[in-house]
Amino acid sequence: MNKNEIKIFCPATIANISCGFDVLGLALSSIGDEMIIRKVKKPGLRITRITGQELPREVTKNVAGVAGLAFMKASNYKEGFEIEIHKKIKAGSGIGSSAASAAGAVWGMNALLGNPFSEFELVQFAMKGEQLASGVAHADNVAPAIYGGFTLVRSYDPLDIVKINTPKELYASVIHPQIEVKTADSRKILKTSISLADGIKQWGNLGGLVAGLFMEDYDLIGRSLVDHIVEPIRSILIPGFDEVKKEALKTGALGCGISGSGPSIFALSKGRVVAQNVTDAMSKLYENIDLENDAYVTEINKEAIRNNA
Ligand code: HSE
Repeated sequence: MNKNEIKIFCPATIANISCGFDVLGLALSSIGDEMIIRKVKKPGLRITRITGQELPREVTKNVAGVAGLAFMKASNYKEGFEIEIHKKIKAGSGIGSSAASAAGAVWGMNALLGNPFSEFELVQFAMKGEQLASGVAHADNVAPAIYGGFTLVRSYDPLDIVKINTPKELYASVIHPQIEVKTADSRKILKTSISLADGIKQWGNLGGLVAGLFMEDYDLIGRSLVDHIVEPIRSILIPGFDEVKKEALKTGALGCGISGSGPSIFALSKGRVVAQNVTDAMSKLYENIDLENDAYVTEINKEAIRNNA
């Protein structure tokens, strides 16, 4: 390693967190991609290597490339960058695969130039990658990847990101049934209007969740992890969703819902032991119906993207 090269860990993220469609997200500790970003004399941006997945190396067709180009356009840097992407997060899994690549590219480039841009600016570059991936420049995965912990997108226009406290004993379980759901497809099935009655329930829960996270009130967090708007529609795409959720809650999870646009299912629990039991119970349920799944239990990642030299 030299000062012209950085090796980083880019965390997976859970967007929406039940009641915060497109506005809430959190970063995970033990699931993520690895990227190597290199400063080179030859001007321009190149993706030199991708492992773990079949993805385009053409920069304008790759989320890391598009985010990186936005970064370079805004910077005074006249030389070039090379990017290597080592994917561990599966595409279409619902835990922020595109966000990890887009956020990682701009975070790494920024670090190599001595951090000329703020986290807030990096989120805006990374959102260009999300736009390419799903057709919508949502920030609820890239913001927690870059800021760490929990984040709230208070507003998109103008963009306003609020970092939220992470309670010490909170752990996440993630179950990925081995099917692929494209974010663009699972957005198309959503309704574009909601009733006032559903709105009242949803913003009550969103306020309750944010308050619960700051107060470290685990019961309030649990009561607030409810989605009246998106989950009833999207859960139809996820085999066994209702049974897995029931099992997670029965095993002691504070709450359980769809991770991002699915098909991964997440649960939040107080303490690692409960979270491990919840993960095991959810995974076992899928095994009983012969559905292969990847199962994780992980801390919430307060560090965000980090140097992994
Ligand atoms: N908020 C986005 C969605 C997240 O649910 O479509 C996608 O990861």
